[in-house]
Amino acid sequence: MNSAVALVPAAGRGERLGYGMPKALVPVRGVPLLVHAVRGLLDAGRVRHVVVAAPPDDVDAVSALVGGLPVDVVPGGADRTASVGAALRHAVAAFPDVRIVLVHDAARAFTPPEVVGRVVDAVAAGSEAVVPVLPVTDTVKRVDADGVVLDTPDRAALRVVQTPQGFAVDTLVRAHGSGVSATDDAGLVEKLGVPVATVAGHPSAMKVTTPHDLAVAEKVLVEGL
Ligand code: CTP
Ligand code: MG
Repeated sequence: MNSAVALVPAAGRGERLGYGMPKALVPVRGVPLLVHAVRGLLDAGRVRHVVVAAPPDDVDAVSALVGGLPVDVVPGGADRTASVGAALRHAVAAFPDVRIVLVHDAARAFTPPEVVGRVVDAVAAGSEAVVPVLPVTDTVKRVDADGVVLDTPDRAALRVVQTPQGFAVDTLVRAHGSGVSATDDAGLVEKLGVPVATVAGHPSAMKVTTPHDLAVAEKVLVEGL
């Protein structure tokens, strides 16, 4: 079946945003980022259930926010990898027949539905791991510990990586069982030596990290950029 279960890590503290509350709960036009993200996943029509990893102290509050939607809420972990792992264990137990799993940051709350569709399609077509990407538009430099430039990688071979990332469920379970940490789930899969395919991402799938990002995200929501 080509419908996925989506895991949404939302247990971060949102320190760089500086709102004094978990980023997932920060409102954009009166609706928390997490709710925007969950609705976006479900509205894409390719996700049958969502498992949210919430800050452990906010499980009840988050459950209330997503009441009435096909969403389960579990306590997150100390880092993003642990939060995804907790959601994955729940998903595998609750939906033993699921074949495709997405991992989507709550902070990428305005990801267009076509990106979700492209990722699910690529996994359904046989890729074990799929990430949405954008070309790099800035010149990127590698620096040493003192900030002195070492070299300039060829920009044409670089990509910025977004979410949702899609996986064959067995592959993601294996990656999370390997006991390493990474800033994204594809990073864990890469360490297994499994090829990770790419599909086109979208600028609106930007991650909200700073107050500047939040202002841009509000514009994306209002003007549909
Ligand atoms: N995340 C998580 N569990 C953690 C840490 C992060 O589920 N222990 C989630 C965040 O909620 C977010 C995503 O991983 O949806 C990406 O993390 P990031 O953008 O760093 O969010 P925060 O950790 O909340 O932000 P900050 O690092 O500024 O505190
Ligand atoms: Mg963080």
